[in-house]
Amino acid sequence: MMRRPVPYIGESVVLFFLDIEVFLFLFISLPINVYKYKVMKKEKYELLLKQAKALTAGEIDTIANLANLSALFKDTFDFLWVGFYLVKGKELVLGPFQGPVACTRIHYGKGVCGMAWKERRVIIVPDVEKFPGHIACSSLSRSEIVVPIYNDNEVVGVLDIDSKELETFDEIDASNLKYLFESAVVINNKWFGNCPV
Ligand code: SME
Repeated sequence: MMRRPVPYIGESVVLFFLDIEVFLFLFISLPINVYKYKVMKKEKYELLLKQAKALTAGEIDTIANLANLSALFKDTFDFLWVGFYLVKGKELVLGPFQGPVACTRIHYGKGVCGMAWKERRVIIVPDVEKFPGHIACSSLSRSEIVVPIYNDNEVVGVLDIDSKELETFDEIDASNLKYLFESAVVINNKWFGNCPV
């Protein structure tokens, strides 16, 4: 007579709890952590905007202000590279920065920086290897954001930030950085009036 196979209870129980664990991770823990990360990022920007305003208040020297701002960004977020390129004729020339040594000159329309200048828009690059024409100053850079800086509606430079991780930058970075350079600091202090270009 054929005997029915006896179900192996131990294995089913283990699989059941593994399923629960995967479910809890995907639908509870992961969204909570993403939410917490975004809230913390917004809080860091709130503080950074206040500090940036205080640091540059009463100082109209562009280089001094950009130097302090790049240090502030590096301290707050520990990005790989934070710095400024300033428009000089048809090129962007390296300005104050924090991080590894970088390319000195970037032509109009070239790389992420040159394109942000040409197209007058913030560019977020989730994966630098997938951005055609990306200029690799450091092999450690995996993602990037570039924000144009204006004076009287003319692009006078860009802020460039590089991260060692993929997909670091999002709309929270874009909107806060745009705000920083369009209103909060630049307009109040008018320090780009002293831009040595
Ligand atoms: N990756 C930039 C060049 C500047 S460095 O990253 C500091 C670009 O493609 O324009």
